[in-house]
Amino acid sequence: MNALEIIAKKRDGLPLSREEIEFFIDGLMGGDIPDYQVAAWLMAVYLRDMSNEETKHLTDAMAHSGRTLDVESIAPLAVDKHSTGGVGDKTTLVVAPLVVAAGLAVAKISGRGLGFTGGTLDKLESFPGFSSQLSASAFLENLSKYRIVVNGQTPDLVPADGKLYALRNATATVGSYPLIASSIMSKKLAVGAKVIVFDVKVGKGAFMKTEDEAVKLARIMLDLAASLDKRAAAVLSDMNQPLGLAVGNALEVKEAIDTLMGHGPADFATHCLTVASQMLLLAGQAPDQEAARDRLAGLLKSGEALAQLEVLVKAQGGDPAPIANPRLLPQAPVVQDLNSPQGGYVSQLDAMVVGLTALDLGAGRVRKSDSVDHAVGVVLHKKVGDGVLEGEPLCTVHARSDEDVQRARATLLKAYEWADLPVQPPPLLYQVVR
Ligand code: URA
Repeated sequence: MNALEIIAKKRDGLPLSREEIEFFIDGLMGGDIPDYQVAAWLMAVYLRDMSNEETKHLTDAMAHSGRTLDVESIAPLAVDKHSTGGVGDKTTLVVAPLVVAAGLAVAKISGRGLGFTGGTLDKLESFPGFSSQLSASAFLENLSKYRIVVNGQTPDLVPADGKLYALRNATATVGSYPLIASSIMSKKLAVGAKVIVFDVKVGKGAFMKTEDEAVKLARIMLDLAASLDKRAAAVLSDMNQPLGLAVGNALEVKEAIDTLMGHGPADFATHCLTVASQMLLLAGQAPDQEAARDRLAGLLKSGEALAQLEVLVKAQGGDPAPIANPRLLPQAPVVQDLNSPQGGYVSQLDAMVVGLTALDLGAGRVRKSDSVDHAVGVVLHKKVGDGVLEGEPLCTVHARSDEDVQRARATLLKAYEWADLPVQPPPLLYQVVR
């Protein structure tokens, strides 16, 4: 067996055996298979797809590239949620502390920005000192002490996902069913929370553009979850326009803090309550959706959920001062509005264009080695359905330079479309798949 044969087999559309997939992941981890061969294999998988059986083998091989933890014995009510990737998707920053305030525990491995989408770890690292690189033993210790951990892939926790993730991001091979499903499920298998809610994004700013595609991805992940004896559900939610108003790491952290204080954007707050209610329901901690929502809304109001964000940030070495004073978060030196060139009703706000703009401003990575600028991004003032007057601000660009602002403003204008008559915003939630 060798890497070239395995790449060629997948290139020709043939299924790979468990042994071949394990050989490839072992070679990736051992350094015997160089990045250029892994990149070729990723493209072959992207173009040729994988069967559910191959995806399961890939998930297993990735999960076992590091340690697999038994979190249930430490935190019997450990739960997890995972988004398939979106623009302005800061849901974990609100939902994790919120469900911990409700008595659950969160044991989670998150990701960084992928393609035009943002990543939870990049957002959390806007808190000075925050570490997403806890070792497996520190992960367990924090879980037992604080009941909340949001870590990244590390040398001892799903390292294969860490490597593949960075390579997928740099080779335009992110939006593939088996690669997304195995990336997400290998993290779930490694830390082993019993209850998982998948937040499957649908639309222009998601990897799954249609509801049918999102259902297909949801079913692959739910089948994997069932085979691992997990309790899981998938919430299919809209990503045609960005979620909430802020896009960019520190800007999204500020919006998450606002939401935990009870004054975040209505769409984002509703979405967080939907995902968190599903977690409570699956964990058997609420009799129905309405009771779950009421309880969670109470925890936002009382400040108990916000207090848990502080616990998380401190527990992972971060400075929590920005929670009380968000001006302590990284700030961009140049902040300028983009005004509407015409009046009417916003009829389209393309999330992918906004995500690509944030990426170009420096909020994400184009190459593996790029560092992330936590301060830059876009804050929207008008979304689909909103009326706007000519000359009114559509959004504000936070950038490093005037040049960056000019480029961002030109691109963002292409994200917006207008109509003369009132427009219905897209639904927030499409369906829940169990
Ligand atoms: N989140 C992940 O962890 N992996 C993906 O591939 C997409 C979203």
